[in-house]
Amino acid sequence: MSTTAAPSPVLGEILVADDDTAFLDILVKTFKRDFIVHAASDGKRALEVLDKMDPVAILVDEMMPHTTGTQVLAYAKNLRPNAARLLMTASTDFDRAVHAINQGEIHRFFAKPLRPMELRQSVVDMVQKVRAEALLRVELETLKQIRAPSNQAPSVLMVCANGDLCGVAVEACQLRGWKAQVERSDAVAKTLLANRSFDMLVIGRGDEIDARGLVSLARSVDESMAVVVLDGMPTVANMQEALALGCDDVLTPPFGHSEVVATRLERALHNHVVMRDMHRVTGELLTANRTLALQRRKHEEQQVKVLNTMVRALEARDAYTAGHTDRVAAISVRVAGVLGLSPERVEHVRVGALLHDIGKIGVRDSVLLKPGRLDAEEFAVIKTHATLGDSFLRDVDQFQCVAPIVRFHHERLDGSGYPDGLRGQDIPLEARIVAVADIMDAITSTRPYRSATHVDTAFEALARIEGTALDVNVCEALRSLHRAGRLVDLLQQPDGAG
Ligand SMILES: [Fe+2]
Repeated sequence: MSTTAAPSPVLGEILVADDDTAFLDILVKTFKRDFIVHAASDGKRALEVLDKMDPVAILVDEMMPHTTGTQVLAYAKNLRPNAARLLMTASTDFDRAVHAINQGEIHRFFAKPLRPMELRQSVVDMVQKVRAEALLRVELETLKQIRAPSNQAPSVLMVCANGDLCGVAVEACQLRGWKAQVERSDAVAKTLLANRSFDMLVIGRGDEIDARGLVSLARSVDESMAVVVLDGMPTVANMQEALALGCDDVLTPPFGHSEVVATRLERALHNHVVMRDMHRVTGELLTANRTLALQRRKHEEQQVKVLNTMVRALEARDAYTAGHTDRVAAISVRVAGVLGLSPERVEHVRVGALLHDIGKIGVRDSVLLKPGRLDAEEFAVIKTHATLGDSFLRDVDQFQCVAPIVRFHHERLDGSGYPDGLRGQDIPLEARIVAVADIMDAITSTRPYRSATHVDTAFEALARIEGTALDVNVCEALRSLHRAGRLVDLLQQPDGAG
């Protein structure tokens, strides 16, 4: 067994098993971006690995020595019921795969030959589906618990000095099989409330009973207890007061039918339990959300740190880039705003611009720091920074979206750019934006061998390659920024002087 840890496993662990070791290697490479990958080269090894891990997905070949894929997945169904169980089969094994699906042993099968990237997407989708179903099951279970009454008979404390009222309430409790304790003294009842817990407090209002004091005490010692007042001579003021103090209900006459009283008490108890559980679940959800928000913020702070470290590492090597990347990012963001890109795409432009020359970290000093003109061979070396930058970033989750900006920021509309000679709209808009910002900043910045060029002269230079090399709309957006006085403050020469 071999284990390969991904740089940022987002979906958990996966077990892949195939006796074709060359294909197994491909599977490991395919999944390491999304999972921590455990590989097994036969069914027996797969079973051993399964005992030691808790995977979110198990992807196995059907035809393996010792133990078949369906046997591995049948074992996994009992041991790891929440994992996505996936089978790879040759066309001759279809019947067995269909049988396994019908038996509920596998979630899906894939027919060989397989294309790794399509397989990867299907597995990721299936893991997310299985995970969503598991979450749904948990939620349904929680809801069931909220709705299901406890198996234990509820305990009721009844405080009542009036014999008739007391009789009604006791009969109602007996009808429902509740454990009822009757107290005629409110002082004794208060001591009981302070020292024991009950599911429900039933107070028979009367002159001898301090109903207000009992309700207040009940609410302060145990929020989970239902509180009901039986009031033989109700007034609006008394009812309002009882409800305001936190009573679940005030029952009023007629009390002649004990079954009706039992039903009303039962409903008050049930509603209280539902409300209590809803509050508990809501509280748990709020806590979970707060934890998630904290984790997200930490993750974002981590991303910013990584980004800054990368940019500063390049700046430490190449004095020219110090400040350049920040300026290109600032210009690109404003241009993207003028072009109406969504906030998410503007953020990609910002990060892509900050990292656009990051590949230069991999260019040797004799070329990167050469003060004079580069010869053809040296220029070819410098050009590799676009693909190098892309290769640094494309395997890092948080930078995947910006890797194309880095790769294509030297492409030109007429196909004369590098590294791929893309043309026109084939070049991502984000890369076309960074290309224009890069050139504007390069022209208006001071270099060791020349002073900065005035911004108006820079626009004349852009105009000469607009439409052939640079995107017309992007250049126009940059011009409109300048007309609005929102460009020169971003350049190295804030007054626009050359
Ligand atoms: Fe560049």
